[in-house]
Amino acid sequence: MKHTDELLQAARRARQNAYAPYSKFAVGAAVESVSGKIYSGCNVENAAYGLCNCAERTAIFTAVAAGERQFKAIAIIADTPGPCPPCGACRQVIAEFKIPLITMGNLNGDCQTVSLAEILPYGFTADELEKT
Ligand code: THU
Repeated sequence: MKHTDELLQAARRARQNAYAPYSKFAVGAAVESVSGKIYSGCNVENAAYGLCNCAERTAIFTAVAAGERQFKAIAIIADTPGPCPPCGACRQVIAEFKIPLITMGNLNGDCQTVSLAEILPYGFTADELEKT
């Protein structure tokens, strides 16, 4: 796996493109595929607030659109007091692609890496769609 710093750095760069005129809260994310490629994303807001897309989902969807399906890790960064945690919706998307490691960071350099099981215990998965 690439060094966590590299993933956080890519997320930090992507954060500069955040389109957040409503919340003014800029977020960046970067995901590493098993092939070692990094895809990054930022949050993209909308005047119809419910359509706002988080940085993590932008990064993951960009990677999937490029043909990726398997990932090693994702990093998220924002200007938060502590490491920035992903929202519930993004945790669900992270779980969909079974991304095993989630690194949360902030602009001060605080960072913490947790596992998927830690960040989304009892998550809903495709297994639940199997009829008994
Ligand atoms: N946001 C993200 O990009 N990722 C998260 O995990 C939490 C929230 C964005 C959505 C919205 O544009 C802004 O941060 C404020 O909620």
